[in-house]
Amino acid sequence: MKYGYFDNNKKEYIITNPKLPVKWINYIGSLKFGGFVDHTGGALLCKGDPALNRITNYIHQLPNSSFKGETLYIRIKKENNYIIISPFYTPVMQELDIYQCHIGLSYMKIVSEIFNIRTEVTIFIPENHSVEIRNIKVINKNREAVEIDVIPVVEYSHFDAVKQFTNQDWVPQTMQSEMIKNQNKILLQYAFMNRNMRINYFTSNFPVSSFETDREIFLGKNGYGTWTKPCSLMEPELGCTTAVRGNNIAALLHHLGKLKENEERELSVFLGQEKSINDIKNTVNFFCKNENINTEYNKLSSFWKNYLSVLNVNTESEEFNTMINIHNPRQCFITTNWSRYLSLYQTGTGARGLGFRDTSQDILYINSVSIKKNKELILKLTGMQKEDGSVMHQFNPLTMVGSEGDAREFKDRPKYYGDDHLWLILAVCEYIKETGDVEILKTKIPFYKYKKQKSNYNTETLQNESNVYGVTVLTHLENALSFTINNTGNNGLPLLGFADWNDTVNLKPPAESIFVANLFGKALKEMVSLLEFLKIDKNKEKYEKYYNKMKKCLNFSAWDGKWYIRYIDSNEQKMGSNTNKYSKIYANAQSWSVISGFADRERAEKALESVYKYLNTKNGIKLSVPGFNSYDPEIGGITTYPPGAKENGGIFLHSNPWVIIAESIMGNGDRAYKYYEQINPVKKNNVIEEYECEPYCWAQNILGDEHVKFGLGRNSWLTGTAAWAYIAAVKYILGIRPSYRGLIIDPCIPSRWNGFKAEKFFRGKKFVINVLNPDHVCKAVKELKINSKKIEGNLVLLEDCGDVNQIDVMLGK
Ligand code: GLC
Repeated sequence: MKYGYFDNNKKEYIITNPKLPVKWINYIGSLKFGGFVDHTGGALLCKGDPALNRITNYIHQLPNSSFKGETLYIRIKKENNYIIISPFYTPVMQELDIYQCHIGLSYMKIVSEIFNIRTEVTIFIPENHSVEIRNIKVINKNREAVEIDVIPVVEYSHFDAVKQFTNQDWVPQTMQSEMIKNQNKILLQYAFMNRNMRINYFTSNFPVSSFETDREIFLGKNGYGTWTKPCSLMEPELGCTTAVRGNNIAALLHHLGKLKENEERELSVFLGQEKSINDIKNTVNFFCKNENINTEYNKLSSFWKNYLSVLNVNTESEEFNTMINIHNPRQCFITTNWSRYLSLYQTGTGARGLGFRDTSQDILYINSVSIKKNKELILKLTGMQKEDGSVMHQFNPLTMVGSEGDAREFKDRPKYYGDDHLWLILAVCEYIKETGDVEILKTKIPFYKYKKQKSNYNTETLQNESNVYGVTVLTHLENALSFTINNTGNNGLPLLGFADWNDTVNLKPPAESIFVANLFGKALKEMVSLLEFLKIDKNKEKYEKYYNKMKKCLNFSAWDGKWYIRYIDSNEQKMGSNTNKYSKIYANAQSWSVISGFADRERAEKALESVYKYLNTKNGIKLSVPGFNSYDPEIGGITTYPPGAKENGGIFLHSNPWVIIAESIMGNGDRAYKYYEQINPVKKNNVIEEYECEPYCWAQNILGDEHVKFGLGRNSWLTGTAAWAYIAAVKYILGIRPSYRGLIIDPCIPSRWNGFKAEKFFRGKKFVINVLNPDHVCKAVKELKINSKKIEGNLVLLEDCGDVNQIDVMLGK
């Protein structure tokens, strides 16, 4: 059964059935002020820090039918009775005649009809403002006039999101609401004891006749009333209680009056946070003018128009185009902003903040509009490097306090992750290739110095004590390489640390990691070409030597006959070998041995063939096989999952693009594309009953075929899959790859394609690319013309280009 469809003209996905198997969400605003809205109008909002400054009470674990954070009631007066309607389906849950939830770019619009009353609610957060706007339109489509009330409701969370659930003494005592008037409008403010620092408010640009702030009074019957049928909505007016403790809500009753046939009324409600009543009044008075709401809404649209204009592709696959032109770049914007903070799967309650490796990979997606943000993040990440070259696994981007992540919790395991620090090299090189900004390498950033401190969460965190003097970003990158050079094991391969990319394999030291060996190889290759471009000879040879040495070690110790193994444990036992009972083969060891260039042609082909044979399924490539079937503390978290789930033999989507990239490097365009197609979320629109998640963004994982729920997707939105799937599709399948001196065009497409077209903005110039494939090959540029002039090879040098350039590419034998 289908739950909705894509509207690529409007750049929306439209949900048409509210009874989705799980909530589907969309992001609004940013980390400064924002969060997500689900398809039933519930919202999780916060300002700055999701853990310490949360606004709405969104309880992930409650059933789909529950009220979460925000909702809206419409009430029809019939004689002396009221009919209560939920235009968002929940929490009243009558069948709606029409339901459409438009998932737009940074906005959501829910349209519904029941009893011939049409409601249209547009939800968004204006850029650089701390307020969520819900614009509500109500239209009477009955022949007779109908008297209608509109009652939007917010349930507040305590500012401290964890305390909201763990402290039933302090929290209820400190939550208080007040009502004040603002230009004859009712304004509800909440946060009495916090009023000198921050005040949440809920108000409207339409006359409010009564309000409620005490949840139990709103529900009635001492709180035994329900959200489905709140007792107070059976009364003509709300109680106008200002809550002095307890569960604070904000409900505003608006009488729209009698609407004649086809008559429409419009109002907007504002949920925000400011430092003072004055600031609140300024914001609200500004947005009480409809034209200001419209201007801000249009600003968002232009932002997105600009953001998406940087690359537009036209291939033979509509599903591919849909992802590349709209949904994948949008998701990359979201992961860059939210890292792994706040989603339906990350509650944002801990001290997690940004993950070093996660953010380093998120910013591998870069376009000409995101440059500033990416640069800012690169500099923050660099500041997390310690003097020895290792980095803090996680950090709070506001306080810049880092933490060692899960590694903190294990006494007998190293406190660093073997791979983290190396990702930064990839991120910086990609940044320079896209922007040409080599100056970034000269920026001086201090090392992260820290001391242990008790944190708010009663765990130890590290306090940043860095002084102002630093070393250049380039030195930091070289320092990262040194850390791996100085931390190798008995076989010459890099030590695993607490874990590498796979967080859940936590072997005792001195275990060695094949993944880190390959990432090190890739980082060395990137460093060598960067130094070549910068014409800095110092150290170049040294890195080439390390590259060759690691290549030897890997091929000597890690080749298993048909594939590469994944780890060597502290007892010199192999993991990811044919000799193992569980997890005999891992996808990452194969893909990355090709990406690093360590595998020669014969081994690369064998390794990728083994991936196809042992790990591929119709729903994607599994991370490893077979799954462990009981807990083994010697191995770690991977063994806590049932076989087929997540890292334990699940289809971990983040790893799929790496195989696609490896296949493209080897020239196997047919297989690379098949791998892309079998996971493309747009295609999942036809199998939502099985897949369950949003078809308009990448998920982190799909249950593998060892699990009875094979095909079920989870952890949508905040995943490294977003950046890597985009890179695999654009830079490897389409082969449009920025390099230091220009644009490389090196497609590796399915042989059945006749070619494709693309338009890209790159370093201020426009490139109109037309690829033809008359011989139906996968890879091999036979001829390349820049503005009708033939060139040798496939590197479009910037110096040969004007402002607008026609690039004609002929593939062929
Ligand atoms: C999660 C983590 C990521 C890790 C992956 C595999 O996606 O956010 O850092 O690499 O799991 O364990």
